[in-house]
Amino acid sequence: MPSSGLATAALLLLLLAVATSAMACVEQEKSSLLRFIAELSQDGGIAMSWQNGTDCCVWEGITCNEDGVVIEVHLASKGLEGQISPSLGELTSLSRLNLSYNSLSGGLPAELMSSGSIVVLDVSFNRLNGDLQELNPSVSDQPLQVLNISSNRFTGEFPSITWEKMRNLVAINASNNSFTGHIPSSFCSSSTSFAVLDLGYNQFSGNIPPGIGKCSALRLLKADDNNIKGSFPGDLFNATSLEYLSFANNGLQGTIDDALVVKLINLVFVHLGWNRFSGKIPNSIGQLKRLEELHMNNNNLSGELPSSLGNCTNLATINLRSNSFTGELAKVNFSNLPNLKTLDLSTNYFTGIIPESIYSCSNLTWLRLSSNRLHGQLTNKIGNLKSIAFVSLSYNNFTNITNTIHILKSLRNLTTLLIGGNFMHEAMPQDETIDGFENIKGLSINDCTLSGKIPKWLSKLKKLKVLALYNNKLSGPIPTWINSLNFLKYVDISNNSLTGEIPAALMEMPMLKSDNVSDSSVPRGFPFSVYAGACLCFQYHTATALPKMLNLGNNKFTGVIPNEIGELKALVSLNLSFNNLNREIPQSISNLKNLMVLDLSYNHLTGAIPPALVNLHFLSEFNVSYNDLKGSVPIGGQFSTFPSSSFAGNPELCSPMLLHRCNVAEADLSPPSSKIDYINKVVPVIAFCVFFGIGVLYDQIVVSRYFRLNRLR
Ligand SMILES: *[C@@H]1O[C@H](CO)[C@@H](O)[C@H](O)[C@H]1NC(C)=O
Ligand SMILES: *[C@@H]1O[C@H](CO)[C@@H](O)[C@H](O)[C@H]1NC(C)=O
Ligand SMILES: *[C@@H]1O[C@H](CO)[C@@H](O)[C@H](O)[C@H]1NC(C)=O
Ligand SMILES: *[C@@H]1O[C@H](CO)[C@@H](O)[C@H](O)[C@H]1NC(C)=O
Ligand SMILES: *[C@@H]1O[C@H](CO)[C@@H](O)[C@H](O)[C@H]1NC(C)=O
Ligand SMILES: *[C@@H]1O[C@H](CO)[C@@H](O)[C@H](O)[C@H]1NC(C)=O
Ligand SMILES: *[C@@H]1O[C@H](CO)[C@@H](O)[C@H](O)[C@H]1NC(C)=O
Ligand SMILES: *[C@@H]1O[C@H](CO)[C@@H](O)[C@H](O)[C@H]1NC(C)=O
Ligand SMILES: *[C@@H]1O[C@H](CO)[C@@H](O)[C@H](O)[C@H]1NC(C)=O
Ligand SMILES: *[C@@H]1O[C@H](CO)[C@@H](O)[C@H](O)[C@H]1NC(C)=O
Ligand SMILES: *[C@@H]1O[C@H](CO)[C@@H](O)[C@H](O)[C@H]1NC(C)=O
Ligand SMILES: *[C@@H]1O[C@H](CO)[C@@H](O)[C@H](O)[C@H]1NC(C)=O
Repeated sequence: MPSSGLATAALLLLLLAVATSAMACVEQEKSSLLRFIAELSQDGGIAMSWQNGTDCCVWEGITCNEDGVVIEVHLASKGLEGQISPSLGELTSLSRLNLSYNSLSGGLPAELMSSGSIVVLDVSFNRLNGDLQELNPSVSDQPLQVLNISSNRFTGEFPSITWEKMRNLVAINASNNSFTGHIPSSFCSSSTSFAVLDLGYNQFSGNIPPGIGKCSALRLLKADDNNIKGSFPGDLFNATSLEYLSFANNGLQGTIDDALVVKLINLVFVHLGWNRFSGKIPNSIGQLKRLEELHMNNNNLSGELPSSLGNCTNLATINLRSNSFTGELAKVNFSNLPNLKTLDLSTNYFTGIIPESIYSCSNLTWLRLSSNRLHGQLTNKIGNLKSIAFVSLSYNNFTNITNTIHILKSLRNLTTLLIGGNFMHEAMPQDETIDGFENIKGLSINDCTLSGKIPKWLSKLKKLKVLALYNNKLSGPIPTWINSLNFLKYVDISNNSLTGEIPAALMEMPMLKSDNVSDSSVPRGFPFSVYAGACLCFQYHTATALPKMLNLGNNKFTGVIPNEIGELKALVSLNLSFNNLNREIPQSISNLKNLMVLDLSYNHLTGAIPPALVNLHFLSEFNVSYNDLKGSVPIGGQFSTFPSSSFAGNPELCSPMLLHRCNVAEADLSPPSSKIDYINKVVPVIAFCVFFGIGVLYDQIVVSRYFRLNRLR
């Protein structure tokens, strides 16, 4: 029995040996792979399967052909760190190498680019750096078809001669690196199948090279966010297979040639925003039957919209924002564009009314017509826009706000409504039966000189997060129902004629009391939020959120600042300036640890500035000027950074920094603790980046209003 068992085992071993000998990987290849892993500083655990004693064809990420030769190495997202060993270039039949989504650093070994076998090379999303070397001209034809080196840290000029050898090249993605110099034109000098070129997010300069037109198979040409200048070279229009053309955010100029349109009839996606193109959109655009997205925003285009635009029946996005277009929108028959989802014509000189044909685009989700010269009233037909989520009509000359509110209230998917800068001198609709607006999160009816009270129907907008009613003539008190709006976190009712005391209800607003300073849940689904081009860096202590704000400035509020204000711990900005508030600044304000802006100027406040305010470490704008404050200005903390104008108009305030120095008696009022802090405190604020258009409320309200750069559009 034992001997037969032994025999079976021996047989099994023999079988195994026979089986594996057919498959087993070549010893030399195994050692190349082991050298690769040995040069990593972090192998992400693959060494567990990469054991010298075993067949490398069964190792994690390795694929061999039936002869036991390695043909693919796929180690994406394995947590690899360290350098890529040139030894991978020794795998003579390796055709696919995918090392994407790791943390590999150092250079890309020339042995891989010049490999006689690699067809697909993907090292995207790593930390590779240095220059890409030109291939040695003696190297013979390369089989490489796909090269993805995007999202690394490569620098220097992009190779040029290298591509001349590659007869099989199909796609290059080199986006999101730091390449400099000119875009080479050699991609198609030998490959006739070259189809995809993405050079976006680099520092390429110079013109678009002539020669690209030779790329008869080119479908995608993308070079967003570079410094490319000049106009389109004529031969570009020979690349008639182009479907996707994108040069957003460069320095391109000139007119949009008829030829672009007539010859590139396969275009599906065009993004030429943030350039300096001028002139008209040519009539021939109507021939682009496949066109789905047209982005020409932020250029210097002018003239009327060509009526032929209505012939591009596949259009889903039209963005012509911030140009100098004139004429009436009615030139275009929008009812021919049933797929339209996004229409942004804001910041131009369009005149006339909103054509009813827009209301037949039943899939429209985004409509921005702000900052034009449109007039008239909305009609009931806007009720057809069942999907609409965003409407901005701000800064035009629309009339009849009562009608507007009644028509829009039934749009169930509406989340953001910006209609400020219209309806001059009308009355705020007070009709308590107004309901609807079930999903509205952001509402701005600013700059309308509206009269009347803050209307009761607002209390039914239970999802409201942002309310902007500034620059009107609203009167009466702040309604006590304000604390029933559980999500409200940004309130700007400044520049009105509101009266009464600051109500206790305001101190009970859930979002302002919560510890969560920054829930970034700005209304979602904004098509342009994808664009991460311009980066406005602000000093702010939390990322990508709408700051919680209360602005009651420039009204007629009376009484005291309630002590309960200290409950609003999430507040980032508090403005009570230009009112008739009296008595002392409550000590409890020092509990508002997130405050960045505190403006109490132009009131009748008395007593001392609470010394504990030095503990507000984020406070960067502070103003108590023109009150009746006395005693010494607190010393230390952020107070060493405020200018003396922050304290002006309070003759009895004293400070070593002010004209009025403190005498001994006054100094006694000051706190004993904070003297040492006086010298220098680093402002503990972390810079953060607001990517352009994180959401419209960010784009519109924060940038424009909170940081006072622009108007709410
Ligand atoms: C793998 O094993 C072979 C044969 O046993 C040996 O020659 C070689 O040095 C080993 N390689 C490594 C990296 O351990
Ligand atoms: C490389 O792997 C990643 C992750 O699996 C995948 O998304 C990517 O498409 C692969 N690259 C190529 C060129 O196939
Ligand atoms: C790299 O680019 C190639 C070609 O466009 C693509 O197939 C591949 O999926 C990309 N890799 C990743 C990780 O996206
Ligand atoms: C190129 O890669 C980047 C990521 O690095 C990706 O966002 C982009 O879509 C890719 N381009 C193409 C044309 O696939
Ligand atoms: C650019 O690369 C960085 C670092 O790899 C990455 O975090 C970022 O997502 C990339 N950006 C794009 C647009 O792909
Ligand atoms: C475009 O191609 C045509 C025909 O192939 C050629 O005659 C013409 O010179 C090319 N145009 C440019 C500007 O290169
Ligand atoms: C904008 O275009 C007009 C002509 O339409 C031209 O006169 C003007 O110089 C251009 N402005 C810029 C900044 O290019
Ligand atoms: C739109 O196309 C139709 C037929 O294809 C044509 O008759 C008409 O002139 C075009 N309209 C415009 C404004 O180009
Ligand atoms: C609207 O969108 C839906 C879903 O995206 C689609 O099924 C429908 O065909 C579209 N309607 C029109 C008129 O394009
Ligand atoms: C309204 O919005 C919801 C959620 O975003 C979506 O599921 C629904 O399809 C939308 N309705 C219409 C008519 O677009
Ligand atoms: C706005 O419209 C009103 C009434 O239609 C008109 O009296 C006024 O002149 C217009 N204002 C502007 C700036 O066009
Ligand atoms: C405003 O609209 C309402 C309701 O649609 C209508 O009854 C009223 O006549 C309109 N007012 C003006 C001045 O057009």
